[in-house]
Amino acid sequence: MIANWKMNPGTRVLARKLSREILKKASRLKKTTVVIAPPFPFLGDLPISKKLEIGTQDVFWAKEGAFTGQVSAQVIKDFGAKYVIIGHSERRALGETDDMVSKKIITSIKMGLTPVVCVGETSRDHQGMYLSFLENQIKESLKGLSRGELSRIIIAYEPVWAIGKSANEAMNPEKLHEMTIFIKKILSRLFGRENALKTVLIYGGSVDATNAISLMKDGTVKGFLVGRASLEPNNFSSILEAVEKYKE
Ligand code: PGA
Repeated sequence: MIANWKMNPGTRVLARKLSREILKKASRLKKTTVVIAPPFPFLGDLPISKKLEIGTQDVFWAKEGAFTGQVSAQVIKDFGAKYVIIGHSERRALGETDDMVSKKIITSIKMGLTPVVCVGETSRDHQGMYLSFLENQIKESLKGLSRGELSRIIIAYEPVWAIGKSANEAMNPEKLHEMTIFIKKILSRLFGRENALKTVLIYGGSVDATNAISLMKDGTVKGFLVGRASLEPNNFSSILEAVEKYKE
């Protein structure tokens, strides 16, 4: 369960408060790994705990040097983070390409971080063009990854049209199930069936306490990348509680 805080909250005090509230809930869970991905400057403000992992929302591929504004995998690791969200649609919308995504994935794996690779179509069409779009995005984003390295990443399927909406505008669980099969098929072609079946696939896009369980159960995903609801401690706690219960 990954909380993608995006460019929130507005202050360190609020970031600490929010993370402590999430930790309170996370401490009681046994089967669910909880990760917060805050804006970079808050990395050092989050409580380091076995029950709460830290992630980031981006990474740069070079080790160090003249790259104004970028943050290296080494620095991320030094802060104790274990996960890196890569290729989020909001970054892709700002110009991040599949090629950049691929370099970031390779660098993160080398550094021992777990990339959470976001993929998803921007919109849907009746001809099914979105399927070839997604296939190509997955292929290009994961290029350079060896067969065995597939198990080192998490894939977050995030249809862009379903992000930042209300729960009833999220993807429906049956449709999500179709997409998890489709994505596993693509992965199977690229990395072999066995590796594909082991891949951890999560979903993101307007997940909240009301739709989490049906999406997990009928959508056959292992977890969620949660934006808006992760900034509301009660809402996020309810999602965590529901997911934990479902796993029992
Ligand atoms: P949302 O964001 O939960 O607010 O839809 C998800 C995401 O963008 O990762």
